[in-house]
Amino acid sequence: MCGIVGYLGKQNTKEILLDGLKELEYRGYDSAGIAVLQNNNFSNFKAIGKLINLEEKTKNFITNDFAIGIGHTRWATHGKPTELNAHPHVGESSYVVHNGIIENYVKLKKSLENDGVKFLSQTDTEVIVHQFEKNLKASLSAFEAFEKTIFELEGAYAILLVTKGENETIFFAKHGSPMLVGINDEDEKYFASSDTPLIGHATQVNYFEDGDYGYVNKNEIAIFDKTRTKKEALFTQIATNRLSAQKDGFRFFMEKEIYEQSDVIADTLLGRLSEDSITFNELDPNLFDGINEIKLCACGTSYHSALSASYMFERYTKIRCSVEIASEFRYREPLMCKDTLFVVISQSGETADTLETLKMAKKAGLKTLVVCNVDNSSMVRLADACILTRAGIEKGVASTKAFATQVTVFWMLSIYVAEVKNTMDSQQRAKQIHLLREVPASVKVTDVMHERIKRLSKRYLHGHGFFFIGRDIFFPLALEGALKLKEISYLHAEGYPSGEMKHGPIALADPELFTIALLPQHLLYEKSKSNVEELSARDSTICAISAIDFDKADDFIQISTCQDYMLEFFEMMVAVQLLSLEISVRLGNDVDMPRNLAKSVTVE
Ligand code: F6R
Repeated sequence: MCGIVGYLGKQNTKEILLDGLKELEYRGYDSAGIAVLQNNNFSNFKAIGKLINLEEKTKNFITNDFAIGIGHTRWATHGKPTELNAHPHVGESSYVVHNGIIENYVKLKKSLENDGVKFLSQTDTEVIVHQFEKNLKASLSAFEAFEKTIFELEGAYAILLVTKGENETIFFAKHGSPMLVGINDEDEKYFASSDTPLIGHATQVNYFEDGDYGYVNKNEIAIFDKTRTKKEALFTQIATNRLSAQKDGFRFFMEKEIYEQSDVIADTLLGRLSEDSITFNELDPNLFDGINEIKLCACGTSYHSALSASYMFERYTKIRCSVEIASEFRYREPLMCKDTLFVVISQSGETADTLETLKMAKKAGLKTLVVCNVDNSSMVRLADACILTRAGIEKGVASTKAFATQVTVFWMLSIYVAEVKNTMDSQQRAKQIHLLREVPASVKVTDVMHERIKRLSKRYLHGHGFFFIGRDIFFPLALEGALKLKEISYLHAEGYPSGEMKHGPIALADPELFTIALLPQHLLYEKSKSNVEELSARDSTICAISAIDFDKADDFIQISTCQDYMLEFFEMMVAVQLLSLEISVRLGNDVDMPRNLAKSVTVE
């Protein structure tokens, strides 16, 4: 996801901005840029690709003495990763950088274009700078114009804006995307999306809250809240360890990514939901014309999200749906019919087996769609259509937030297709959309749940195996829970359909066989419970995950009482991720880089 930096002070502004951007590289980006205002002159540089390209472009640019500057690394959402789309975006005499998505940018852009404004980029961000300059013409001050602009924006943002008329001021606003300001005794001010760029520069930091906006100059930090009331900054000491700052204080990237799921799912939903309809601006509305089957193909965790998708597609769209493991599909001489939409799913967009199946489908003349987390990856470039999952860079080898956002995309996509195919009425759609809006809250990790799992994990460090069991869409979640555990604990685990245990695996049941039972209250509860009772009767050790207390279980992880099984799905997903994490920690394993595994599998 994008990264922001800003600086106001007397040191080498260019170097500070570039170093800051380097510290944000871990967030992932495809282009970068800076704008510096010194002696009332703007200098602006942008480059696609890695920061080294931007460094090369700025090598003859020197900053000394007082200057203000803003910088950005961009992870493309609206418009391709080109130089024109890279930030900072320029107006007549101002520059802006922005993280997040401006949901009402189309409306604002149309109105600005009607006023004669010419847009240079395809981004949502550019409307901010033009809207500001429009307001500036009718305002008494730049701050008044900035404030007016912020209240006209809808969506999520962290924004820094600089303008010529106020050449010692940086304007800022934060709503839904992270940003902080740091200070030191030299009257310098530093902005960034996370702590790391500020380490070694600032001594104290203030984390902005949603709705905060204002300005900084040499002498002042003026912060206002969403009621336009001035508030005090709340400064705290800054962290001193870079790696731990990148991990935002979490022990592992995987843990951080589990905690991030609420935010990245909110990003995934952003701009795609209305009252009773789903929008995918990136899809051609005719994509599903003539389609009678959807075939999903992927590997590993992405395969599990594909399996989850198949339940939703058939249920909501009434289109036949099949799911394939890419490494199997590519060699089994599969029949491919032109009325099939071929969907590949991949966090990285580079997995060799999945990429190959996409090539096969294209060769066979099928329409293709990729659901992917990395823009400009091989799969994104190859497929006819693409939906980005917006999970941000995933560092932990064991995938967590990528899975969460993939399932979220498929939930939205199945409702979108149901609308296109007229298989779901608007009331039903409105209900599903209401539930989708609840997902970010349902995946928030609570201290109670994390502590409970931490405590009970000590009882699951041995045994001769784990079975994660579930029914319906909870079966792919069981597969995913088992995969997470295998990957980072090195204990043997299998995911199984609850109803299938009695057809063989139940022979393994004894106290040393650990069953992690997914028992959603709102989907086949009684049937799933009977399956668990069969295992309990044979003395398997049971850890039940449910909203309803279950007296046959040895251990119980309580989730909240939800309105719908899909919200239970997401809460249980967090529970199984945390369980694997805590077991792995107790076993002393390398959680983020488990043995034998690579993050991107580009060999077959
Ligand atoms: C598991 C995991 C892997 C990947 C698989 C596919 O935690 O990360 O199973 O899901 O290698 O990778 P992508 O999604 O990049 O195609």
